[in-house]
Parts: sequence; structure tokens; C-alpha cells
Amino acid sequence: MATRKRLKKQVYFVFAGLILIIGLIIFGINKYKEYQYHQTYEYKLLEHGYNEEEVTTILDNFSDNEHLDYFLSNEKNSNIVKLLNEEYYLDKFFYEYVAYLEENPDLSTESIVRNINVHLDKDFYEIEYETNVSLDTQMLVNKYYLLSEDYVPEDLVSVSQTYSWGELGSQKVREVAYNAFLDMWNAAEQEGYYLMINSSYRSYQDQEAVYNNYKSSSGQKYADSIAARPGSSEHQTGLAIDIFSKTNTNRNSFTDSPEAKWLEDNAHKYGFILRYPEDKVDITGYSYESWHFRYVGEDIATYIYEHDITFEEYYAYFLEK
Ligand code: DAL
Ligand code: ZN
Repeated sequence: MATRKRLKKQVYFVFAGLILIIGLIIFGINKYKEYQYHQTYEYKLLEHGYNEEEVTTILDNFSDNEHLDYFLSNEKNSNIVKLLNEEYYLDKFFYEYVAYLEENPDLSTESIVRNINVHLDKDFYEIEYETNVSLDTQMLVNKYYLLSEDYVPEDLVSVSQTYSWGELGSQKVREVAYNAFLDMWNAAEQEGYYLMINSSYRSYQDQEAVYNNYKSSSGQKYADSIAARPGSSEHQTGLAIDIFSKTNTNRNSFTDSPEAKWLEDNAHKYGFILRYPEDKVDITGYSYESWHFRYVGEDIATYIYEHDITFEEYYAYFLEK
């Protein structure tokens, strides 16, 4: 009888011991899991003060330690996370955005991303990149991206006098832009508008003369607002044309003409963009030019038209490597 009792007791102890061991193992596993979670960036970012949505945004954008450690080693700043959600945000500019945000805390994150993308943190002409001419009809020429003195497009064709002023052969554009212009001209004509080109391809030297003319008559500031310095004019690409109507070549009154309105609404269908719109002066650096159209091809022109952005913004996000 006593042996049985002892046996029962022993079974009880073994059983209790097993339960205890299992309990300890479960406790240990949980502790280990907790320890492991505490090592994750998710936990550390939450502890740093970012909310769950912000943490998800950060982790969706970065998996490398360098960027993630940046968030932990700097004070929590929700605006930095907002940058990551901006439509035209680019990873390669992350640190530039952050520095620019620090210097300009009152700017919206949209403006921060845009300005850095198109280099507006620098003065016009302060930095000079070489235009990537291998991009062909998609090349960017502006106050930061310049063409060399000897760049001359290879496929310039003469514009017929039906569509342009000046002596025969004095107006030239690249063939691809000319074909698109003819389609556009015909469409406009069908609707009762007679378009006329009054400036098209200009060599580096032609542009130098145009710019210097304005500069000597009205000063550098004014010249810079309406004319490109040599090397920085789209007219040197052979892809830009100044379009007026047969009855109106006056820059001021053309802006309010039905032809200008037609061009603004329809040019994209033929691959042209209104290059210097009224509300984008701070980005393009030029006053409103209702007559200056640039050929970029239908897809890009349509995107730019529909999204109401400049070619600078498009180029930075979609074309620049
Ligand atoms: N008027 C434009 C900006 C040019 O000179 O190219
Ligand atoms: Zn022009």
C-alpha cells in the first residue's frame, strides 16, 4: 500500500515538474520573441515616437540600416515621413530634402520635393549640367542644363512659308517636330485658326545675339526673365517653336487671343507643351510665354498637360537617371 502511495507521489512530482518545465520553456520563448521584436526597426521607430502608419511608410521605403538609423538618431519629425509620401519623391534626394526642409520649415513637403528635384535650392545658372542630348526629343535644356556651343541638331528642315514668316529657309525645326506641327496646324486650320511660326531653331550664336540685345537694352534681370543665355535655350534644340497667329504677332495681345487658347488646350495632342506657363514662372525662370511650344512627343506632352506640371518636374522624376 505504502509503495503505491509513494509511486503516486512520484508520478505527481514528475508531472508537476514537466508542467513547470513546459511553462518555463513557453515563458522563455515568449521572452526571446519579445527580445527579438525589441531589436526590430518597427519597435525602435514606434518607441522613437512615430505612429504605426508612419512606421509602415518608413519601412516600405527603406530596408537599409543607414536610412533607418537616420530616423532613430534624429529627433522625430513627421514632415520627413510626409516627404516619403509625396508623388514625385525620389530616394536619391532623401538627404537633400531633409536638409532643405530644415532650412525652409514653412514650405510644404510638396514644394520641398519639387524644388529639390528641379534644383531650385540653387540659383539659376549657379550649377551647370551638360544637357543629355542622347535623350533626343526628351532632352532638358534650361537654366541648369545647357547645350554646348557646337550642338546643332542633325535633322533640321526648313519650314514652309505657308506657316512661317521670314525668307524661305530662315525658319528651321527638327523633322519630328515639323511633322507634328503640320498635324497641329491642319487641326487648328479646320477649326478656323491660322497658326504662324515666327521663331524656331536658333544657333548658339543666334541666341547669344538675342540675349545680349535684351541685356544691353533692358539689363540682365529683365533679359533673364524673357530670354535664355546662350546654351540654355530650347531653340537650340530645334524642338521649340514660337507660334503666333496670322493676324497677331504681338506678344502681349496674342496671350488673350483664341489661337493662344486653342494651343494651350490642344498642343499636347500633337506632342507639344506650353513650356513657360503663367503659374510656373518660379520653376521655369521665365515669364509667361503663351507662344513658346516645345516638342516632347504625345505621351509626355499629355502627361504634363493632365498633371499640370513643368517639363523640369517631369524630367527629374521620369527621365533623369
Ligand atoms: N524665350 C525663351 C525662353 C528662349 O530665349 O529660349
Ligand atoms: Zn521661344
